[in-house]
Order: sequence, then C-alpha cells, then structure tokens
Amino acid sequence: MAQVARIAPSILSADFACLGDAVDTVAPEADLLHVDVMDGHFVPNLTIGPPVVRSLRKHTDLYLDCHLMMTNPGKYLEAFRSAGANGCSVHVELGETETLIAEMRHLGLDAGLAVNPDTPFEAFAEHLDKIDLVLLMTVFPGFGGQTFMAEVMPKVRRTREEIDRRDLPVAIQVDGGIDEDTAPIASEAGATVFVAGSAIFGQDDPVEAARRIRAAADRAGWEPSTTAG
Ligand code: DX5
Ligand code: ZN
Repeated sequence: MAQVARIAPSILSADFACLGDAVDTVAPEADLLHVDVMDGHFVPNLTIGPPVVRSLRKHTDLYLDCHLMMTNPGKYLEAFRSAGANGCSVHVELGETETLIAEMRHLGLDAGLAVNPDTPFEAFAEHLDKIDLVLLMTVFPGFGGQTFMAEVMPKVRRTREEIDRRDLPVAIQVDGGIDEDTAPIASEAGATVFVAGSAIFGQDDPVEAARRIRAAADRAGWEPSTTAG
C-alpha cells in the first residue's frame, strides 16, 4: 500500500501580520507547520526566530517543524526547544553533524538533517540511523517561490532505497517548488513529507490547495517493496 503523504505548509509565504489566521486556515490539511529560520549568513535572507515559534506554540497544537538555515544552529537549539519547537532540521553542509544531532536528542527535539540540492548522498548517509527526518532540498535554500529541481530525484530515490534496505524510521521531506505537479514526482521517488509555501499560502483557497497537493502525492505514491530486506 502506498504511504500517505504528509503536508507541511511553510509559513514563509504567509502574511506575517496575520500569522495566526493563516495557520488556522491551513490547519485542517496540515500535518506539520514548517517554520523557515534564516540568519542572513548561511542563506542571503532573514526571517524569524524563537519568539515567533513561541507565539505559534501558544496559538496551535500543530507539530512545529523548524528548518534552521543558520550558520550556528547549535547556539539556538535550546531556545527553539523552550519556545515549543517539536523538531529541528540542521544543514549537513555545516559539519559538526554528530554534535548537533546529539544536542537535539538531549533537548528532546526530533532530529532532522537538511541537505542542499548539490550535496551528495554520501554526505549524510552515515547519519541516517541517528535522525528522524531527512530534508532533501529541491531548491537552493533562501527564498520561497523558486522552481522545483527535478535533478534532486535520484538522490531522493537512493535515500528511500537505503532507508528501506536498513528498515530505518526516517521520513523523507522535500522542500522547494512543491505543488500539485511536482509533489507526485517527489512522491514517486520516495518522499513522504511535502513542504509547500507559495503553492499553499499564495493561493486563493490555501486549504483546498493543500488538499490537492496531498491527493496528487498520494496518487503517485511510492510503493514500498514487498521483497525489501
Ligand atoms: C526555502 C525554504 C522553503 C520555502 C519553500 O529556502 O526552505 O521552505 O518556504 O517555498 P516554496 O514552496 O514557495 O518553494
Ligand atoms: Zn524550508
């Protein structure tokens, strides 16, 4: 049976002046809420940090999935945890991955590893047995509204094969340019968690847009092999 797609609306494309309303709007179709944290250094853009996570935590019970596009995430993990984050993803390109994963575990955060489009499978494969989520970027991080990079799909597929071969409880999340047309491509390659910003919050009916992305991903759903193992 195909896996069921999980949808993670990215609040980066929401109106920050009405964030609570935006979250309430998508909540019926949101499995996680994706929070893009950018430090103006690791990526050339600045967004939000723990104070906004704290406000979101007071407002919603949704799982808060914080994507830390930061040069020094270790310095802030505790602040994100105490603000109410459920999981954080740190970029593997930073190095110090083992230390950062250990710190997330120590704090009781779900541990995610984010991977840029041009970072190879070999750069994160050794960590797959220590994390909950691998976030395979389908754009270069920094901005919403970019075009999906289909050339990342072989890496998604290879990651799916490795996770299945080793029977690891790791979710594969894709992020960047995900919409009703591209979610099936990533789903077929093995992704199960779909981040979408502009394709949800940029639409007249965000909840219907999320529903359609989920349905499109489910239709294309990658089928676990019955002979794996
Ligand atoms: C990009 C962020 C994404 C972004 C996706 O650096 O990590 O989460 O919000 O936006 P869309 O879905 O518009 O490509
Ligand atoms: Zn993101």
